[in-house]
Amino acid sequence: MGFFNWAAPLFHLFADRWSEQHVADIADELRPYVQGRAGLLDIGGGTGALASRLADAIPARVTVLDPAPEMLRYVPDHPDVTPVVGHAEAMPFDDDAFDAAIISDAFHHFRDQPGAVREIARVVRAGGALLILEYDPDAIRPIVWAERLLGEPAAFFCPDDLCAFLDRHGITGRCVSTSPRTYYFLGDVR
Ligand SMILES: C[S@@+](CC[C@H](N)C(=O)[O-])C[C@H]1O[C@@H](n2cnc3c(N)ncnc32)[C@H](O)[C@@H]1O
Repeated sequence: MGFFNWAAPLFHLFADRWSEQHVADIADELRPYVQGRAGLLDIGGGTGALASRLADAIPARVTVLDPAPEMLRYVPDHPDVTPVVGHAEAMPFDDDAFDAAIISDAFHHFRDQPGAVREIARVVRAGGALLILEYDPDAIRPIVWAERLLGEPAAFFCPDDLCAFLDRHGITGRCVSTSPRTYYFLGDVR
């Protein structure tokens, strides 16, 4: 965690790395779940670059949860984006507080992934959605090792393994490849 507090200024330089098309594709997947209801939770949302773009594109109210205050300092001043300090494994929210959750490039940083999934099932209403953007570790071996050297868990899943893991923990969905290195998981929260 210390890593993201000291690396925040550097990360901020590259945080808004999504094309218009990529943002539109993510918004299209989430829009059916978040219309007019409780809103979207961006877990491990960091500097809020994606959150603020989704707030406009869906449109939706977006809460950015992150344990690193230095990352949250960069969350854009946006009327529909709210930064909150906290961990995925113990979220400071009521049951059924959100319509959907997104986790971008962060699930592999969670030190208790089953605990985080339990919390997602608690704070996202039944019938809501979980969308995870991740890297396939087989395609980014040097990055996996670099993260481990920095003391991060680097708990990456291959797409099939992430689907199976989440299914075992009560969230059933599908993985879609978006490039040779990246994919997303979209599943239903029961
Ligand atoms: C690589 S950054 C990604 C930030 C943002 N989602 C993005 O795509 O630009 C990973 C983020 O996960 C956060 N993180 C690490 N462990 C976490 C945990 N247990 N719960 C929630 N967020 C966590 C870090 O603080 C960091 O901001």
